[in-house]
Amino acid sequence: MTKIKKNFVLENLEVVDTSTEGKAIAKHDGMVVFIEGAVPGDVVDVMVHRKKNNLAEGKVDKVIKLSSLRTTPVCEHFGTCGGCKWQNLQYKSQLEFKQKYVYDAFTRIGKLTFPEITPILGNADEYYYRNKLEFGFSNKKWLTNEQIASKEEIENKNGLGYHIAGLFDKILDINNCYLQAEPSNSIRNAIREYALKNNLSFFGIRDKVGLLRTLLIRTTSTGEIMVVVSVFEWLEKEVFALLDFLKETFPQITSLQYTHNPKGNDTFFGLDIKTYYGRDHILEEMEGLKFKISAKSFYQTNSPQAYNLYRITRDLAGLTGNELVYDLYTGTGTIANFIAKQAKQVIGIEYVEDAIKDAVENSKANNLNNTQFFAGDMKDILNANFILNYGKPDVIITDPPRAGMHEDVIKVILSVLPKKIVYVSCNPSTQARDLALMESHYSIKKVMPVDMFPQTAHVENVVLLEIKS
Ligand SMILES: C[S@@+](CC[C@H](N)C(=O)[O-])C[C@H]1O[C@@H](n2cnc3c(N)ncnc32)[C@H](O)[C@@H]1O
Repeated sequence: MTKIKKNFVLENLEVVDTSTEGKAIAKHDGMVVFIEGAVPGDVVDVMVHRKKNNLAEGKVDKVIKLSSLRTTPVCEHFGTCGGCKWQNLQYKSQLEFKQKYVYDAFTRIGKLTFPEITPILGNADEYYYRNKLEFGFSNKKWLTNEQIASKEEIENKNGLGYHIAGLFDKILDINNCYLQAEPSNSIRNAIREYALKNNLSFFGIRDKVGLLRTLLIRTTSTGEIMVVVSVFEWLEKEVFALLDFLKETFPQITSLQYTHNPKGNDTFFGLDIKTYYGRDHILEEMEGLKFKISAKSFYQTNSPQAYNLYRITRDLAGLTGNELVYDLYTGTGTIANFIAKQAKQVIGIEYVEDAIKDAVENSKANNLNNTQFFAGDMKDILNANFILNYGKPDVIITDPPRAGMHEDVIKVILSVLPKKIVYVSCNPSTQARDLALMESHYSIKKVMPVDMFPQTAHVENVVLLEIKS
């Protein structure tokens, strides 16, 4: 959508739906209007700032009527922090809109034939459900409208928190985040306080200066805690003093690590992460299986709901112990290892080599001898030769990234024709597109949405396909 020269107001619009990004949607004279700051059921005047053909984008200018689906956001940062956009929508309604999104994608995008969608599995906790948060340090924190309006001189411009969406150099200083349980907030705030008291510099992204760059906090359901501090400049005495302070103040940290990041970007990729105290990993547990999580490993960010997702996946696969199962896009092999005891053999494929190393290690640590893992791009590795070498799968489990599966991967699946396919997706739109390509040979037997991310518009969806007879 293009920015228009002169903003204009559309009056009295009733919000009727939500977009896949969580924006409110209203209709006006054949135009679809995406609105920030409203929820379905609201009636609002909208200041339009972007428009293209029959699509417009704007912000609430005036509220005429508040929706009965609204609730009061719990977080002091709501509205400024882009993280939990749906905090003003009751959780029950969030679930209804997520379910509707799956239905709409399957009917409109896929034009699929499918059975009644199972009611979405809500998260037990509306807040504190994440096991991983990453924060950035900045010497130019975001100033709120109130701070600017008060014209107070803000002496301290150092901030530790989240990036403001669309502004790469601005960090919102976070005082209290509802996404990760304690001691997450205490650790982050203690680091900020220590840094300010001891004059440790915060990173300046524009001029590339400063000591403190990023902070990672990971937790497990078993109570283990990992903290990784990344620094841009290297001042050993100061860094070690900060780590000593953390070790003494938070003895519950089981893995304290640090890394020097001279590039100054905000990823750990390619960096040498060193252990200062404790182990170089934390251990998550599911049904007695242990999963090793290192600083760089991918692990589903909502542990209890990941367990539910994996159980649903395993149940739908209907394993008896005699099946050869392919787990496509296996990540660190969590699904492959989770189902291994119920299958004859499991083959996991994933393109991140480090993840495949973790998958192999996790199998070994759990005495699972019937798994094999391969690293490579799915469209290159999963071909007729691979099937010839490793066998024709009875069941395929596939959990691709948001973009869905490459067409070539779908072609190979259709040449192999496993009896069952369980398709786990974090993007029902691309899932619907992919399912349409498989509809000639497969019937959709189950559609089961799962909510992994309350207060956001994201939805995970599990589908069981069975081969047509
Ligand atoms: C949604 S995650 C699935 C993770 C895993 N099933 C789990 O539950 O932990 C998708 C995975 O696909 C991998 N991936 C993305 N594109 C890929 C490709 N073209 N070929 C192989 N793997 C890919 C990503 O690295 C990621 O680990």
